[in-house]
Amino acid sequence: MKNVGIISVGHYLPEKRLTNFDLEKMVDTSDEWITSRTGIKERRIAAKGEKTSHLATLAAQEAIQNAHLKPEHIDLIIVATVSPDSNFPSMACLVQKAIGAHHAACFDLSAACAGFLYALTTGKQFIQSGFYKHVLVIAAERITSLIDWKDRNTCVLFGDGAGACILAPVEKDRGIISEYLHSQGEFGNLMEVVVDDVHSPLSQGERYTKIPYVVMQGKELFKIAVNSMAEAVEKATKNAHIKVSDIDCVIPHQANDRIITAVAKKLEIPEVKIFVNIHRYGNMSAASIAVALYEAADEKRIKRGDTVVLVAFGAGLVSAANIVVW
Ligand code: ACO
Repeated sequence: MKNVGIISVGHYLPEKRLTNFDLEKMVDTSDEWITSRTGIKERRIAAKGEKTSHLATLAAQEAIQNAHLKPEHIDLIIVATVSPDSNFPSMACLVQKAIGAHHAACFDLSAACAGFLYALTTGKQFIQSGFYKHVLVIAAERITSLIDWKDRNTCVLFGDGAGACILAPVEKDRGIISEYLHSQGEFGNLMEVVVDDVHSPLSQGERYTKIPYVVMQGKELFKIAVNSMAEAVEKATKNAHIKVSDIDCVIPHQANDRIITAVAKKLEIPEVKIFVNIHRYGNMSAASIAVALYEAADEKRIKRGDTVVLVAFGAGLVSAANIVVW
């Protein structure tokens, strides 16, 4: 079995910043409420016409360049997203076309905020088995297009962005050494994308849809998020035959600073080992961990040989963790 690792990372963040003070003018909220309840200070918003596939393409190009590869070296493209441009073509096919990765197979993967980790684990299998050599994993979201901008319960939480990485065979002393995937469909109603059904004037009883938007039961999710993420880290460390105290850096999904702090406390991991960038970007769904991984590497918060845990929780409900020796 081949060792599989992340050999490069890339990212893209839209230019437009929406601050808490901007939101004060849009809904009944305050910078103080948002900061104290979530840790978020600002988030990025994709420009008009800047689609998810565009964010994905720019992140992918940086990851390919950083791996010193050419697009034709890519065997498989997986895009983790819950906010695609449309139902089809897939985001992966759109990226393939945009970057000229003519030899790649392409598909999208839907696992909400855990999508990047589900995609890493999926891509790893193709390389470990010897089927493919280079897999491009992208997590890209224009999640703010699913937000009801009149709902203060949700509109303050989310932002747009994309991260990407190249998976490839690596030396024996590094790579993705463990994974844990879990789902609890019975709690799916706690965070959903709904559409207001409207009777079509042209048919009897048939419905057509208006713009879909996110509804969320924050308090309930909060509790499950803390337990699920702590459990995912414990399971993944056990699978890797290491102790939680062996972890050098945790890169968690960035949904709420208080969730991250509670997970760290539950696992007795010092906060200095936790990478947090939620204040800059809010919750970018699947893209959160991908962008955080990029920044952690860029800021040298993780270095060669470090044991890094990626851990996520999201709508579905789903949770996941990967342990990577960087
Ligand atoms: N500004 C001001 N007040 C607000 C706002 C706002 N933006 N949003 C809600 N409130 C009000 C509510 O109306 C409510 O008022 P009420 O008590 O009069 O009814 C009150 O604030 C609720 O306050 P709290 O109970 O203190 O809120 P809480 O501490 O639970 O924080 C939050 C809410 C931030 C949503 C939190 O529950 C949370 O982060 N939950 C997890 C959400 C999550 O992880 N979602 C994503 C996971 S899945 C994925 O990422 C795809």
